[in-house]
Amino acid sequence: MSTPRPGSVVFQNIRKQFGAFTAIHDLSIAIEPGTLVTLLGPSGCGKTTTLRMLAGLEHPTSGRIIIGGKDVTMLPANERDVSMVFQSYALFPHMTSLDNVAYGLESSGLKRKEARERAEDGLKLVGLAGMGQRLPAELSGGQQQRVAVARALVLEPQVLLLDEPLSNLDARLRRSVRTEIRDLQQRLGFTAVYVTHDQDEALAVSDRIIIMKDGVIAQEGTPRDLYEAPASAFIADFMGEANVMPCEVIAVQGADATIRIAGLEHKVPSRNARLGAARLAVRPNSITLEAASNAPFPGRITHAAYLGDHIEYEVETADGSLFVVDPGVERALTPQTDIAIGFKGRGIAIISG
Ligand SMILES: Nc1ncnc2c1ncn2[C@@H]1O[C@H](COP(=O)(O)OP(=O)(O)O)[C@@H](O)[C@H]1O
Ligand SMILES: [Mg+2]
Repeated sequence: MSTPRPGSVVFQNIRKQFGAFTAIHDLSIAIEPGTLVTLLGPSGCGKTTTLRMLAGLEHPTSGRIIIGGKDVTMLPANERDVSMVFQSYALFPHMTSLDNVAYGLESSGLKRKEARERAEDGLKLVGLAGMGQRLPAELSGGQQQRVAVARALVLEPQVLLLDEPLSNLDARLRRSVRTEIRDLQQRLGFTAVYVTHDQDEALAVSDRIIIMKDGVIAQEGTPRDLYEAPASAFIADFMGEANVMPCEVIAVQGADATIRIAGLEHKVPSRNARLGAARLAVRPNSITLEAASNAPFPGRITHAAYLGDHIEYEVETADGSLFVVDPGVERALTPQTDIAIGFKGRGIAIISG
């Protein structure tokens, strides 16, 4: 194991039961200092439970949690050097935003004057200089969220924890606040563990993503790994739309595998592929539609929908129906047109599960 550095996080074989129900099965994670790692997964998969165990708000049934090289498994929340930004913001409604940010500093023993100075700096950091005297109710949702982030950051924790921090914001604001959080994290270089069920948000903010399903890790990797090389149909579908199709692996050579589907042969990353029957996850925009003459993999357009900057097609093939996104809006194919299916170089992966 590498030397522990401040801000590193390790989960070793964490299990969490609530009575007879096992919410987390044997979870092991290692997070590098200064990175933003997202726990992503459908509702109920155990994201919040994992984050709360890191915060010290829940204790694991077994396993160890190590922050900055120190075993904190049994430590209470206030001795862990982490702070959490809650989905609901959890601001004190009767206190100004400055007092909200200063509160944690004062409770940790800082003199009032110094706490307020640090709180001013915190508000400045999140773009709220001069707003210190406002009550939470006098701020927009996005501004309240920034106060909550400032309040967590001024404590200079080793790790910042964010649980669905954008879910109370409207769609337009979500994009700008997520950019702000990511900018701040990169600028200040702190470690962050971010929880969301939204794959776009996870792709946009993360260095690494851990996808969870039913209390276990389904796959972990960079946003690009997960999108371009999903290990299973669940991941392929969860990380955006995908066509899952049967294929045959006809050759494996080092990093490349050649697959055949209908009469079409194509090279894809081999990963752990074995010869024989397999399944392929194909992104809708990785399929090309060509003229039908002597097509190795023929299909027929069944539906076409013009969506401004792309056209969505449904294509019937011998291997099932495919969903295709074509940026070529200048050429619209009409239903009943016979076409030849081709694959682009990216966005096609052999999947195991
Ligand atoms: N305090 C609790 N008591 C009993 N079951 C719980 C408790 N907290 C969470 N759970 C259960 O654990 C599972 C994971 O919950 P949670 O971590 O909140 O999921 P997520 O945040 O991914 O939506 C769910 O099935 C949930 O009902
Ligand atoms: Mg949750």
